[in-house]
Amino acid sequence: MIYKTLNFKTRLKRPTKVLAFFLVALSLASCQKNSRPNYQYMPNMYTSVGYETYGEYDIFAGGQEAMAPADNTIARGHSLYGYENTNEGYDLAKANLTNPYSETVDLARGKAVYDIYCAICHGTQGKGDGYLMTNEKILGVPSYDARVITEGSVYHVIYFGKNTMGSYANQMNEEERWQVSAYVMSLRDALTQN
Ligand code: HEC
Repeated sequence: MIYKTLNFKTRLKRPTKVLAFFLVALSLASCQKNSRPNYQYMPNMYTSVGYETYGEYDIFAGGQEAMAPADNTIARGHSLYGYENTNEGYDLAKANLTNPYSETVDLARGKAVYDIYCAICHGTQGKGDGYLMTNEKILGVPSYDARVITEGSVYHVIYFGKNTMGSYANQMNEEERWQVSAYVMSLRDALTQN
């Protein structure tokens, strides 16, 4: 029986096959209608499913699309920071925290990062006259010589922010934060000498 059907198919003449092909092609093409959206044969490729980054879904290994960092681990280039985001933490950092990279301070690198992230408010010389200040988009940016600051307190403020100034811990790694702290102190020294 199966043999017979196969045999029948193979016996179709070439012109019949060509005709069948055109009939199928024509019927597919006639589905198109410019007045409304066209057919989507594989809709998932046009409209992908929007998964929440940290949403929980069965289809991903571990049940989540983006995995949270493993417990008790820390990203490369980061280390634990022992001072709290409080006034006491600020005072302790100001008094005790010193630059572990003081041997390799590179003010040119500090300036490069400072000019990107800080100068917009603090100004390239640290006078508190950055673009956002002169245009009154932010208020209360101090000149570095108007405050009692140490390398440790600057690091602390970069790490946690202070009042209207936000944290820059995510924009720079630990070493860069220290390079910038050293550079801020050099700006402050230049300002106090004048
Ligand atoms: C959006 C504007 C803005 C940017 C950008 C900014 N700051 Fe500030 N910064 C402020 C303001 C406002 C204050 C005053 C905060 C206060 O004491 O109320 C401040 C204060 C400070 C102080 C003095 C803190 C103290 O101990 O009294 C330091 C040091 C400082 N910023 C360093 C930096 C560094 C370094 C960067 C770049 C990583 C930076 N800031 C980026 C707005 C900014």
